[in-house]
Amino acid sequence: MVKICCIGAGYVGGPTMAVIALKCPSVEVAVVDISAPRINAWNSDQLPIYEPGLDEVVKQCRGKNLFFSVDVEKHVSEADIVFVSVNTPTKTQGLGAGKAADLTYWESAARMIADVSKSDKIVVEKSTVPVKTAEAIEKILTHNSKGINFQILSNPEFLAEGTAINDLYNPDRVLIGGRETPEGQKAIKALKDVYAHWVPEERIICTNLWSAELSKLAANAFLAQRISSVNAMSALCEATGADVTQVSHAVGKDTRIGPKFLNASVGFGGSCFQKDILNLVYICECNGLPEVAHYWKQVIKVNDYQKTRFVNRVVSSMFNTVSGKKVAILGFAFKKDTGDTRETPAIDVCKGLLGDKAKLSIYDPQVTEEQIQKDLSMKKFDWDHPTHLQPTSPTAIKSLQVVWDAYEATKDAHAICIMTEWDEFKSLDYQRIYDNMQKPAFLFDGRNIVDVEKLRGIGFIVYSIGKPLDQWLKDMPAVA
Ligand code: UDX
Ligand code: ADP
Repeated sequence: MVKICCIGAGYVGGPTMAVIALKCPSVEVAVVDISAPRINAWNSDQLPIYEPGLDEVVKQCRGKNLFFSVDVEKHVSEADIVFVSVNTPTKTQGLGAGKAADLTYWESAARMIADVSKSDKIVVEKSTVPVKTAEAIEKILTHNSKGINFQILSNPEFLAEGTAINDLYNPDRVLIGGRETPEGQKAIKALKDVYAHWVPEERIICTNLWSAELSKLAANAFLAQRISSVNAMSALCEATGADVTQVSHAVGKDTRIGPKFLNASVGFGGSCFQKDILNLVYICECNGLPEVAHYWKQVIKVNDYQKTRFVNRVVSSMFNTVSGKKVAILGFAFKKDTGDTRETPAIDVCKGLLGDKAKLSIYDPQVTEEQIQKDLSMKKFDWDHPTHLQPTSPTAIKSLQVVWDAYEATKDAHAICIMTEWDEFKSLDYQRIYDNMQKPAFLFDGRNIVDVEKLRGIGFIVYSIGKPLDQWLKDMPAVA
């Protein structure tokens, strides 16, 4: 029986290993983590992450061939294949601060693997890491190996949150990078055999190590670039009276471009896009390619611009002040169908509004008050450290309230900001909401999910990203 151990029971490690266990009954999978609360949650009915379909998969396999444990060393020493899926935060201090990946957690995992191993192992990079990390890890392992043979593979994960289970069942591709030596090729084959239980062979791409590492950064950079491109267009649409949805539709009909990832929004979030692009930028700079670095940096700059533009639009439409005004924030997660708030645009928008002294009332169907308070008190890039998974007691921000109902959040509010495209926000009773709001009642849709004309009919002043403005907004231009 092949034994797999995954270090890191997070958004990537948890669902990926659960699906491997489900699809490969002959493989024993142990997911380990240093965070005891996380492991306890994986072993309970209340999983630590919200992901549609995940509960069922875990229920089917847990205790049979899927185990969650804090006994990291035991499971690593027994495994044939060790996946490493730990945090790779952006450095906040020292060389490369604000750009380079902090490989502290990776390095400590690698040293631990070298320490406890008594048999040959395949070590698989699962978390996105800068190109050539595998080489560094290989060095740590071989210099501490005590004669044990380690083969390093890069097997980046392409699942998106909210659709993780489906993405894992039907991946567009599985990418495995390894050394071009006979031992390297043997290791690639061993991992390929695991995926071949359910993924058609032609979708399993095998490359060298660097190509696999770089492909992951490149894929995320390309996806994010599409969003920044359409968001840049949204600003031009508002200035000229075009409708960004119509433009995206027309552009996406070109089969060379395709329709996906062309939805204008208040900005992209999530744990990957910004971090991976910053990494790419840093790698380009280190390799003497400032023009290439500058090109990719613009993707993040446009994303930041989009969030600032949104806040400016809210404040300027409401007579240039939101001080003391109740603003309802609908949605806080970085996208629908997840409770994940890492790098969510809602953080920057809320901080912007709080900076202008607004009183916020926030509702998200999956995000807790504790998480929101933590996110709004945390510094940039501080979220990606395991310590933030432990319960802490942040200083509560007094001018915000977190409620469990959209009607409660919007009651007596001057304005509503839609930050996440949760389906339930499409079918709210907006007449009832309007009746209970202060007038004029504003609605700022950061996800383009509401029926603008219907809401204008009710009486709302509506702003929807990249859509023709109503007269009110034209008369109150946003300051750049
Ligand atoms: C992304 C990649 O899609 C995935 O392949 C990789 O493994 C991890 O990073 P994820 O961050 O989970 O996945 O979600 P994704 O669906 O890519 O959305 C990222 C952000 O872009 C979200 O904030 C989303 O709302 C936003 N987005 C997406 C848009 O604003 N417009 C779009 O058209 C698509
Ligand atoms: P991702 O989205 O990439 O899965 P997460 O932050 O959700 O990232 O998960 C990473 C997990 O890795 C966390 O649960 C963290 O506690 C765990 N972790 C970090 N370092 C180690 C380590 N040395 N040993 C075991 N687990 C670790």
